[in-house]
Amino acid sequence: MDKLVDVLIIGSGIAGQRAALEAILHSDKVTILSKLPVMDSHSIAATGGINSAFSTTDSNFDHFADTIKGSDYLADQDAVHKLVDGSNDEIFFLEQIGVNFDKNDDLFVSAKLGGAKFARSLNSSNEIGLVIMNKLSKAIDNSNVSVLENWQVLDLIVKDNRCFGVIALNTNTFELCEFRSHATILATGPAGFLYRNTTNSNVCTGDGFAFAYRAGALLKDMEFIQFHPTSILGSNVLVTERSRSVGAKLFNNRGERFMKKYAPDNFELAPRDIVTRSIINEINNGFGFYDNQYGNYVELSFLDIDTDVIDEKLSDVKKLALSSSNIDICNSPLKVIPAQHYMMGGIMINIDCQTSIDGLYAAGECSCSSVHGANRLGGNSLIECLVFGKIAGNRASNYNATNNSFIFDMFSSYSLLVKNLLESNKSPNIDSISNKLRTLMTSNVGICRDKQSLNEAINTIQSLKHKFDDSSIYKISNIDICNYFELLNMLDISEIIAVSSLTREESRGSHYRLDFPLRDDDRWLKHILINKSINGPNISIEKVVINDLEPASRKY
Ligand code: FUM
Repeated sequence: MDKLVDVLIIGSGIAGQRAALEAILHSDKVTILSKLPVMDSHSIAATGGINSAFSTTDSNFDHFADTIKGSDYLADQDAVHKLVDGSNDEIFFLEQIGVNFDKNDDLFVSAKLGGAKFARSLNSSNEIGLVIMNKLSKAIDNSNVSVLENWQVLDLIVKDNRCFGVIALNTNTFELCEFRSHATILATGPAGFLYRNTTNSNVCTGDGFAFAYRAGALLKDMEFIQFHPTSILGSNVLVTERSRSVGAKLFNNRGERFMKKYAPDNFELAPRDIVTRSIINEINNGFGFYDNQYGNYVELSFLDIDTDVIDEKLSDVKKLALSSSNIDICNSPLKVIPAQHYMMGGIMINIDCQTSIDGLYAAGECSCSSVHGANRLGGNSLIECLVFGKIAGNRASNYNATNNSFIFDMFSSYSLLVKNLLESNKSPNIDSISNKLRTLMTSNVGICRDKQSLNEAINTIQSLKHKFDDSSIYKISNIDICNYFELLNMLDISEIIAVSSLTREESRGSHYRLDFPLRDDDRWLKHILINKSINGPNISIEKVVINDLEPASRKY
C-alpha cells in the first residue's frame, strides 16, 4: 500500500474513476480511496440517462441553452460550454471501454427529459449508471491505478492553503493512516442523507463537502438542493424522469392533469424545480391525495401508454413499482411525492477543477463548477462526472507540487480520538442526533423555506453540534465509528446549507423562499460563496459568468 502517491482520489464513483483513468496517463502512482466497495458507489443508481447532443436536429448550443435556462440563469456559461463541448468525446470514450449504448441502426436512441428542447439522454438497457460503473472499474482493474476499499477519509491534510493528502481510517481494521499526495481530488458524491426524504442512499453523507469546508476551502451556492418530483410514496425510491418522457402523466385528486396550469408547453417535462413546486402547490391547495400512513401525494399514471411500450421502455419502472409498492403500472397509477435528489452547489472549482486550496481538485456532485446553477436538468450529472472527472485527473496529474515537506500535526489528535472512540463504554446517541438533524433539514430547509424556518434550523443545528461535541461514543463496531465521522460531516454541511439559504433573499430554481417568492436579478444574479472562519460560516459573493445568453423570464 503506497502512502505517498502522485494523485490521490477520494471516491470511486463515476467522477473518481474517470479522473483516475486520465491521471494514470500522466502519473506513475495514482490511488483511489473508497469508503465502500467500488460497486456500492451511489453512481450505480443512475437510470435516467446521460446527456449529449447527437441527433441531427440537436446541437451543443441547444444543450448549452437548455442547461442555462434550466439553471434559472445562474449557471456559469464558460463552465456550461466546457460541459457540452466535452460531452460527445466522453460518450466515445465510454464506447471505447465497452459501454453499449442503446442504438437503432447505429444511431443513438435518446430520451427527452425535463427542460430539454430535444431528445438527448442516452442510455444502456435502462441501467446507465451501473453499466458505466462496470466498464470503468474493469478499465481501472486493467490499469496501474490502485484502489483501496473500506478506507473512510476523516479529513484533508492542509497547511498554508496547500493540500498534502488525507487522514483515513480503515473501517475493517481501524488502522489509521496518513496518505500523502502531490495532488488530491475529491469525488465523494452527494449529501442526500441530510434529508429524511431522499432518493440517495444512506452513504451519501456529504463527506467531501465537509472535508473541504473544514480545511478552509470555498463552497458555492449551497442553498440549491434539488427535489426530484417523483419518488414512490413511503420508500422514496426514484421513479425516473424517463417515465414522463415516455408519457406518464401527473394527476391531482380532481382528476386534473395539473401540470398544464404551470407549464402549458412542456407539462410534466418542465424542469424538476417547476414540477416539484407544482406538486407541492396542488397539495397545499387541498388537491393532493392522502395516505393514512405516509401522508400527501399525487398520482403518476401510465395508463395512456401501450403495454408494449411500457415493456420495451419502462420495464425497470414496472419491476420497481411491483417490488416496492405491489403496483402494476399497466393497471394502476403510482403514488408519488418529491424527494431530495441532488446538490447543485458544492466545493467551488474553476473550469480546471481546481478548488481554492492549492493541490486540491474536485469533480462530480461534491463539486460546483456551476454548470447547474439553481437547478440541474436530468441527464446532465453523469456527463458532468465524466467531462469534469477527466479534467480533474488531467490537471491534478500535472500539478506542480513545489513544497512537499511539511510538519504533520493532525495524525496524533486523530489517533487519540479514534482510540477514545474505540475504548469508551458510554451508550450511543448518534442515531438520535442524526434523526433530529434529518427531520429538521426536511421540515425547515426543504422545498420551501423562509427566514423563520431557516433561523430555527441554524440555532438547532448549532445546539446539536454542541450535543455532539459532548457526546462520547462507545461501541467498538466499525458502523458506529463510520457513523460518528459521517454525522460530524452532516452537521457541518447542514449548517452551511441553512446559512446560504437564509442569505439568498429571492426565489430561483430549486431555492424557494416563501417570504421572497420572486427571482430578483438586480440583487441576486450572483453566486453565494461560503467558507469557514473562526466566527462560523463566512459569506462572500461572486459574479455569474454570462457570455452568451442574457437572463430572461423562464416559461415552459
Ligand atoms: O429521473 C431520473 O432518472 C434522474 C436522472 C438524473 O438525475 O439525471
